[in-house]
Amino acid sequence: MDRMELIRTRRSVRTFDGRPLRAEDMSKLREYMQQIPNPYGIPVRFLLLDVEEHGLGSPVIVGENCYVTAKVDRVPHSEEAYGYSFEKLVLYAWSLGIGTTWIGGTMKRSLFERAAGVQEGEWMFCVSPLGYPAEKMSVRESVMRKTIKADERKSAAQLFFDGDFSTPLTTEDEKVRDALEMVRLAPSATNSQPWRILRAGGAFHFYLAHTKGYSSRAGWDMQKIDMGIALCHFMGTLGGELALADPGIPTAEGTEYIATVKL
Ligand SMILES: Cc1cc2nc3c(=O)[nH]c(=O)nc-3n(C[C@H](O)[C@H](O)[C@H](O)COP(=O)(O)O)c2cc1C
Repeated sequence: MDRMELIRTRRSVRTFDGRPLRAEDMSKLREYMQQIPNPYGIPVRFLLLDVEEHGLGSPVIVGENCYVTAKVDRVPHSEEAYGYSFEKLVLYAWSLGIGTTWIGGTMKRSLFERAAGVQEGEWMFCVSPLGYPAEKMSVRESVMRKTIKADERKSAAQLFFDGDFSTPLTTEDEKVRDALEMVRLAPSATNSQPWRILRAGGAFHFYLAHTKGYSSRAGWDMQKIDMGIALCHFMGTLGGELALADPGIPTAEGTEYIATVKL
């Protein structure tokens, strides 16, 4: 499967078949995890956690034996860097037939932090189970997908703009269209899809339309992780250079500039 196919077919997997990861898959993951770059140049340190050894679990996940998580220094843009690198791992796992679910809420955070040995000055934003998808979803998983409308996405016209935030972006450039579509399909916390992209002066500016009531917790913002995921899908498809240079274009209230991709 190529990268776009991986993005198109990936979904959160919350019901696993109970088999431990094959030794071969485990060593591929371990090797890949060593160093997963992101355009912020912020190191994201991954580790695998055994469910039984640490007594881990999540109320929404069944049949898993193993979790992956990552730690990052508490520096500016650590959420976006984390989202970018972690999503690369999610897609790599899917290429091996291994299912994942980004989990930032439905877990006992302190338990995972202890298992991961999180130190002062570090953050561990999310975890994900790793395993082989069961043939049938649990009832809880199906209900959850329906409740959060996990199979739906906003339309391109609601997300991508040209010059200002009232003009939808249309383009004949197939690669740009593909890159935008890859962003549209990305996973996000509670499927909020907070990313907005505005093309101006040949660059693509990424904005975060904060979801009301989604307060940032303990000094970090879950929705900035979503932004890192969006950047991962976009730059992984189209390339480009990341810049932090707010063009000062007027935005709606609650919309925050995050980063620019220059081609
Ligand atoms: C940063 C982040 C945090 C998430 N946290 C949770 C979570 O705590 N529990 C959960 O079941 N799903 C969580 N999700 C998964 C989303 O609900 C899911 O990606 C979204 O509904 C779209 O469904 P899909 O991944 O199957 O395409 C999270 C996703 C992201 C990106």
